[in-house]
Amino acid sequence: MTDNSYQAVMARKNDIMRSSLGLDYDQFNLSPIAFDYEAMMNSSGYSLEEITAIQRETKVGGTPLHELRRLTEAVRRISEPGKGARILVKDEAANASGSFKARRASISAFEAQSKGFKGMVTATSGNYGAAVASQAAQRNLKCIVVQEVYDSQRIGQPEIVEKSRACEAYGAEVLKLTVGPELFYVLLRTLEETGFFNASLYTPFGILGVETLGAEIGEEVQARYGKSPDVVVVTNAGGGNLTGTARGLRRVGAEETTVMAVSVDLSGLHMASDTAFNNKSFTTGHTGFGVPFATWPDRVDVPRNAARALRYMDGYHLVTQGEVFYLTELLTKMEGLERGPAGNTSLTAAVALARQMDEDQIIVVQETEYTGAGKHHNSQLSFARSRGIEVRRGDPADNVPGRTIVIPERLDQVAGKPLDLERMRASYIKHAASVLPVDQWSEVDINFLAEDANTTSEHVQEIAAGLGAGGATSTGRN
Ligand SMILES: Cc1ncc(COP(=O)(O)O)c(C=O)c1O
Repeated sequence: MTDNSYQAVMARKNDIMRSSLGLDYDQFNLSPIAFDYEAMMNSSGYSLEEITAIQRETKVGGTPLHELRRLTEAVRRISEPGKGARILVKDEAANASGSFKARRASISAFEAQSKGFKGMVTATSGNYGAAVASQAAQRNLKCIVVQEVYDSQRIGQPEIVEKSRACEAYGAEVLKLTVGPELFYVLLRTLEETGFFNASLYTPFGILGVETLGAEIGEEVQARYGKSPDVVVVTNAGGGNLTGTARGLRRVGAEETTVMAVSVDLSGLHMASDTAFNNKSFTTGHTGFGVPFATWPDRVDVPRNAARALRYMDGYHLVTQGEVFYLTELLTKMEGLERGPAGNTSLTAAVALARQMDEDQIIVVQETEYTGAGKHHNSQLSFARSRGIEVRRGDPADNVPGRTIVIPERLDQVAGKPLDLERMRASYIKHAASVLPVDQWSEVDINFLAEDANTTSEHVQEIAAGLGAGGATSTGRN
């Protein structure tokens, strides 16, 4: 009889991963810290053209790129003379299932089908569940989504409830869990019992699927405006959106484009906490995911994460919940586009950043997502009020995550604030030191860390030296 205790299942996790993915991560490992990232990304063997062709089979990609003329004019009116970049938005809501996550699910579904799997399993409470379900449906595969939906009172955040509904609408079976550590256990057991494909968000397939998004943006802007975008703003959580987009931009020669990460500032709210879980109005694209994943990407459900945002980001901007709600209204009322929270997070930062940029520059908001039901800002605000959170108009600097949502009164109050990348790098290096003591790092480790933290090997050594002898303690990864 198989031992299905927590410890026994965790002990089998590498075998379960190997058979549910058909990918052996051990071949890329160079040390407890370093691995050959590009070899892993290239191991699938797909070219960009092949990925594009696979995506077109299931209604993914080729989404419109819109110029937001009225919003650009509004920003110019509140900017210094000569300032106010042209704002463009890539309308990813046009993908099957309504978000860029379809790009990510599409290659996994193709792989699962070609390798003869009967179905796909994914653990996510995000748009990705609906994307996997929609892609599975089109390839005649079964789909199981494992979701953290409820707190211990069985109350579900409206957006997560909407995401469960969407998964079921596309034909998936949804295993609805309360917040807690059992998610990974249930995922492993489900993979083992069904023998289905592991459609993890963090495999090379997922990230390759997003590269088409960066490539489309780069090529379309080059064709229409005769140059690459100056800035692309990307809503960041687990880091796949940013990683894939940045890699795609590079593939089409947009090396000079600044890639800016954006998250909603939820500092002070603890994501694993039963109460804080429902006291936030955003379920993705926030600092509760964005910061920990950027500073230690391998905290995921596969041995090596293909999403490595810190490698690719040139800056990080934070916005408040109230500012995003305000921009959600403006996008609807001025541009006639009613879209969802995650894309509007980067739109909010784009407005703040465009004010500092010259008029002849171009800033691209890299995605929209669909909206409706619990994703709608009115549902979120009603839910927040019902939990005792104050909602008012005023200066967005007064937002306090989990306590007060302040919706700006005027566009010139929308500013957000930068997050210091140096602090992120230091945190990343500290994590690495807890996996392998600094005095045991080889040149391979240091070079890997330099690439992963988007800096030089000298700088990695400086940061590591600053950690002191106590920097290196624990032994294992994950
Ligand atoms: C619509 C949308 N945008 C952005 C993100 C953030 O993507 P990532 O987790 O890859 O950083 C998500 C992830 O949940 C999403 O669903």
